[in-house]
Amino acid sequence: MTLSLNAPQTATDIPPHRQNGWRGLIEAYRPYLPVTDSTPVISLHEGNTPLIPVPTIAAEIGKKVQVFVKYDGLNPTGSFKDRGMTMAVTKAKEAGAKAVICASTGNTSAAAAAYAKRGGLRAFVLIPDGYVALGKLAQALVYGAEVLAIKGNFDRALEIVRELADRCPVTLVNSINPYRLEGQKTAAFEVIDDLGEAPDWLCIPVGNAGNITAYWMGFCQYHQMGRSTRLPKMMGFQASGSAPFVVGNPVLQPDTLATAIRIGNPANWDKALSVRDASQGEFNAVTDDEIMHAYRMLGQEGIFCEPASAASVAGLLKLKDRVREGATIVCVLTGNGLKDPDAAITHSDDSLFKKGIEPDLETVAEIMGF
Ligand code: F0G
Repeated sequence: MTLSLNAPQTATDIPPHRQNGWRGLIEAYRPYLPVTDSTPVISLHEGNTPLIPVPTIAAEIGKKVQVFVKYDGLNPTGSFKDRGMTMAVTKAKEAGAKAVICASTGNTSAAAAAYAKRGGLRAFVLIPDGYVALGKLAQALVYGAEVLAIKGNFDRALEIVRELADRCPVTLVNSINPYRLEGQKTAAFEVIDDLGEAPDWLCIPVGNAGNITAYWMGFCQYHQMGRSTRLPKMMGFQASGSAPFVVGNPVLQPDTLATAIRIGNPANWDKALSVRDASQGEFNAVTDDEIMHAYRMLGQEGIFCEPASAASVAGLLKLKDRVREGATIVCVLTGNGLKDPDAAITHSDDSLFKKGIEPDLETVAEIMGF
């Protein structure tokens, strides 16, 4: 039998939107997205990421609960941004754009670069010099983005690109672009497709607050269509040094080792507050130590995410006393751990890494304890 990527499948048990294999989230969720038959879809077959049970984290809660991680670090460029970028770049291309621009703490720039170049567009990215994880910078360069590292933070970079997009023929693909949220809402569809119901809590790291807004859109849309009988509480977590939603106003000098969410003045401020109120959710802060503790716990489950992503699990552990018996919780892991090798190595357990060993069998076996 020859297998081909687009070979038709006849099995009746495959849900309609997953028939003919997985060809990206626009094809999978076409009826729920702003595309037509003539829209030129730019896709890297993003989406369809696994919802993985994490029993050791569930055990930490100390009650009978189910905890899953939505591992969006398995998208083509290693973060959830691919969901938004397939839509934003597709729509930019449809509108005849020749270039896109974004400000980024790294992941948006990698995704913008990959999708723009695949669609034949130029990609300009503004990043805070010195505060972007190495893997993300490497990606933007390999995909062929034109990278401008500014001597300022993400918030300043965003101000600049907003103005540039008004003045120059470039399409802004930060999460202010409504198509980004349309694409990202599909993660909520997938969660419900996998669980058959919405979770009790959706724990999610928050920076610019685009993703929490997008998830909520997705949950509401599926709920209205009868795909779930309830809506989750949206539990957003910020790093304590960059927690504008927790302190209640913008933070001028945001700081955290979770550089992806090192944001003091979120672009989706009003939307995020509406999501919190409508879902009876909350914003809470987690310290860098709590983030790295959760990061290492996930590693022990075989899951490597970047530090910012671990904020969702750190937040759940912090609020564990408030989780009800029998609850189902989904923590979003927004980015892949490979993005930030520096953080991984700096925060690894020294006792596991022995260097300078003589290359002979006896010595190696002895060190292994055999
Ligand atoms: N997690 C990761 C790994 C991120 O890269 C980001 C945002 C977030 C969480 C927060 O998502 O902004 O929608 O609330 N990264 C942006 C970037 C800012 O430029 O890559 P949000």
